[in-house]
Amino acid sequence: MSGRLPREFIDQLLSRIDVVEIVDRCVPLKKAGKDFKACCPFHDEKTPSFTVSPSKQFYHCFGCGASGTAITFVMEFNHLGFREAVEDLANAVGLSIPDTGLEHQDNDTPRLLEHLEEAKQFYKRQLRSAPGAEAAIAYLKKRGISGEVAAEFEIGYAPDDWQSLAGTAAGDSQKLTEMTRAGLISQRETGGHYDRFRSRIVFPINDRRGRTVAFGGRIIGQGEPKYLNSAESPVFNKSAELYHLHQARAAIAKQDEVLVVEGYLDVIALVQHGVGNTVATLGTATTPLHLQQLFRLTSSVVFCFDGDRAGRTAAWRALQVALSELRDGRQASFLFLPEGEDPDSLIRAQGPDTFRLLVDKATPLPDFLFDSLAGETDLSRMDGRARLAALATPLLEKIPQGPLLDLMQQRLTELSGVRTDPTRLTNKSAQHKTTRTQPDKRLTPLATAISLLIQHPHLANEGSLPPLDKEGDDARGLDLLMTIDQLARSETNLSTAGVVERFRDDKDFLTLEKLAVHNHHLDDNQLVEFYRQTLATLEEQQVSAHITALLARSDSQEESATYRERLASLFKRQQSLRHVREKR
Ligand code: UTP
Ligand code: MN
Repeated sequence: MSGRLPREFIDQLLSRIDVVEIVDRCVPLKKAGKDFKACCPFHDEKTPSFTVSPSKQFYHCFGCGASGTAITFVMEFNHLGFREAVEDLANAVGLSIPDTGLEHQDNDTPRLLEHLEEAKQFYKRQLRSAPGAEAAIAYLKKRGISGEVAAEFEIGYAPDDWQSLAGTAAGDSQKLTEMTRAGLISQRETGGHYDRFRSRIVFPINDRRGRTVAFGGRIIGQGEPKYLNSAESPVFNKSAELYHLHQARAAIAKQDEVLVVEGYLDVIALVQHGVGNTVATLGTATTPLHLQQLFRLTSSVVFCFDGDRAGRTAAWRALQVALSELRDGRQASFLFLPEGEDPDSLIRAQGPDTFRLLVDKATPLPDFLFDSLAGETDLSRMDGRARLAALATPLLEKIPQGPLLDLMQQRLTELSGVRTDPTRLTNKSAQHKTTRTQPDKRLTPLATAISLLIQHPHLANEGSLPPLDKEGDDARGLDLLMTIDQLARSETNLSTAGVVERFRDDKDFLTLEKLAVHNHHLDDNQLVEFYRQTLATLEEQQVSAHITALLARSDSQEESATYRERLASLFKRQQSLRHVREKR
């Protein structure tokens, strides 16, 4: 929907804003040495461990590990997406958001939204007055939907007519074009336009800011297709939106839990029975985007699926997406309903108390994972247990480092008898190890170098990177080190926040955020020397690895002169690096 913002703009924004000021507006800060402190807004605490550094333009909580730039703070504190947070900050300092390529194409967005809002009002009016609306009303009544709830959800009716909505824009070709782009009407090949929704009950779909961006239309009674949704449009991306998310936010935050169901009518029935913390996907599988939005509001997501085979398959897909999001105490659970029931039928038949009881007893993700895999394997056989380990390992690899991963690895060991080597999981590159939340965990030389450079970009001018061979397990980390080194050399005034923001869309963003706040326990005057030492250690490691690799080669190559020269020069370099180290 929105084009990527140019990084010059993000740099400019970061140079105009001050993280201290921005945090201070939400959480009053007290000066403490070079930094500022407060009680952390992201967890409960009595003594302040939340620190904001004006020089790094970065905040960090030693209690819960929350950290980031001013943009991250606004995202987390106000539950906003990246773009929304940037818009807020830019507005506050009078910067205007530049036109990105996509943005340019989308500059009719406000008008598309206007037409969608107008269409919503139109459909609501039709439900009250159009000929034929009685059948729609009777159907809603039959489904047990109260007038009050119908109004709350702004349910409408699209008359049995090809022109009722299109007709409202007759003769206005610009509006007709825009209504087509908004997915409300379609154009005939022979010219002319016709309504997409006809003889259907329409449910407005709002984005997370509460703007109507699409509709879902249900046939009245039996028929195919049962539901027709708006086509994807510049303002509607099915796999990003969740039905009822905007209205449910407060309830989700309050109960610190969200229920994800499959249908519009499931949401409506649950809300009518007092279960307000509910959203639905829009006929698509759960996506990472869905989960990221939900996990910003709560740490507990409960998926509610039918108990049949299709429901199990959908749940398994949701599980796979959820694994990568399970950090920092986040939980996912699965509620499987009895065959033939959906949340709508169940809550109407059994009432909200029984339904809540079922939600409380939903299967935690780790149990669902292991139970499903154990069901597919014969654990009384040795090869069955090996198979379990083989099936579970790629799944566990998706889980971010942390206590949950540790516990699940333990569980796998108990079940399979196979000891999983934690270093084989996830942290294939050394710097990943630092994503663990334990304080004072020692960093590898590579991670140390990256961390120092992020925290003090000016160090790039104090020592040049040794020749580094970007092969093997460390390739990603080495690549990051080189990129950051170049960045810091070419842009001399970059702060820590400026460096980190460059990597917002990178898969290692969280790792870099952690490295940005790692405490190296150094005084300012030790910094340069320590950085140089770290680079030397890194080079020494690389040289040793190189020697080992050469020595492991086949005999025929050992004969060649270049081979021997290469080895000799590596030995020499190793010697001199050792020598320097010992003198220190
Ligand atoms: P269901 O078939 O479970 O419908 O589809 P439901 O919500 O229980 O509807 P009722 O109770 O029969 O009225 C679940 C969701 O899948 C999408 C819709 O988003 C629906 O809410 N869907 C379903 C479609 O997009 N098209 C269809 O034809 C069917
Ligand atoms: Mn249903």
